[in-house]
Amino acid sequence: MRLLVTGGAGFIGTNFVRYVHSARPDWHIRVLDKLTYAGRRENLQDLEGSGRYQFVRGDICDPVAVRGVMSDVDAVVNFAAETHVDRSIMDAGSFVRTDIEGVWVLLEELRRGSPAGDSTRFIQISTDEVYGSVEQGLSKESDQLRPTSPYSASKAGGELLAMAYFHTHGVAVTVTRSSNNYGPWQYPEKLIPLFITNALEGQPLPLYGDGGNRRDWLYVEDQCAALLAVLEKGTPGAVYNIGGGQELENSRVARAIVEATGASEDLIRLVADRPGHDRRYGLDCSRVRTETGWHPVTPFEEGLARTVEWYRENVSWWSGIKSGEFRKYYESMYGGRLSAGRGPSAGGKV
Ligand code: NAD
Ligand code: TYD
Repeated sequence: MRLLVTGGAGFIGTNFVRYVHSARPDWHIRVLDKLTYAGRRENLQDLEGSGRYQFVRGDICDPVAVRGVMSDVDAVVNFAAETHVDRSIMDAGSFVRTDIEGVWVLLEELRRGSPAGDSTRFIQISTDEVYGSVEQGLSKESDQLRPTSPYSASKAGGELLAMAYFHTHGVAVTVTRSSNNYGPWQYPEKLIPLFITNALEGQPLPLYGDGGNRRDWLYVEDQCAALLAVLEKGTPGAVYNIGGGQELENSRVARAIVEATGASEDLIRLVADRPGHDRRYGLDCSRVRTETGWHPVTPFEEGLARTVEWYRENVSWWSGIKSGEFRKYYESMYGGRLSAGRGPSAGGKV
């Protein structure tokens, strides 16, 4: 198997490349990554001498770069995306480019290089956020998509285009829709790594709104196992929900992080809400379970403990990130919110 992993230097990509490199010792893996603020080549540096891993820097929106890496592969797993909802609210341009146009460039190359009927597999990694906020119950793959943020709308555009290339051009597309992942190597802008690293630094944990929004949490190693199962046993033309089955209120996650890091609960601050903040997502994962046998195995407490340990042991990885471009981002995202924020002691019950 010759596998192309686009966006392989980001959070899930890094974990997936490492997982597959170890689980499938005869597979060759090539990563194509633009190395945006969220990508780090050094995450995978230790694999570079293995003879089964190659890193190429490039943009999925660039047809020449894509052509150069795709001609000899058996499967493509596309993680490359702009991924942070808050950044999509500040500026959606790069989301539309990478998450829609970039997917189109990959699909065009697959179509061009593989006349209909050829079997180069294409796994498009999508998200539970394409269903929009689901106050109750669980979303099935056949449910209507109602994305609400520029991020989720772009991801919906990308996966719909991918499925259109399956139906129209016979490209062997499979789509996965995952819930919120957490674990090692996650850029510290998302809830769990931001709160862990802030707690370790004694900084406030800014909880949006009333802290009652709910997410389903999936440990990244379980996500990697699911994606390998879908690659090996999934059906072209199918969509698979991949969830952790562990739904928690954000305030509960914040408290679990405070406990796991030994920080003070006073660090938790209720701050101004995210505009258009989806209240809840929930996934029915019976299809992936029935068709591939996969199910998540890591309880949240265990996954969180492993994640906290990783961030404790890899301070140089995240402190470098947090001292760079991140500072400007953090100030514009949280500066006003935190100076106007309410702590539990000021009456904001968490
Ligand atoms: P991430 O932001 O950590 O990494 C994204 C990677 O893509 C980075 O390495 C970045 O350099 C690269 N990239 C960005 N634009 C690129 C371009 N134009 N060309 C080539 N490379 C580019 O993201 P992540 O959290 O690892 O998410 C990976 C995928 O999984 C995304 O498609 C995301 O939408 C999806 N997803 C993530 C989650 C989650 O909880 N993290 C949940 C569901 C789905
Ligand atoms: P996030 O990790 O950004 O993932 P997503 O929005 O894609 O689900 O956020 C997870 C939840 O945590 C979401 O309800 C927003 C909330 N949140 C906060 O309360 N504070 C924060 O600083 C961040 C980043 C997120």
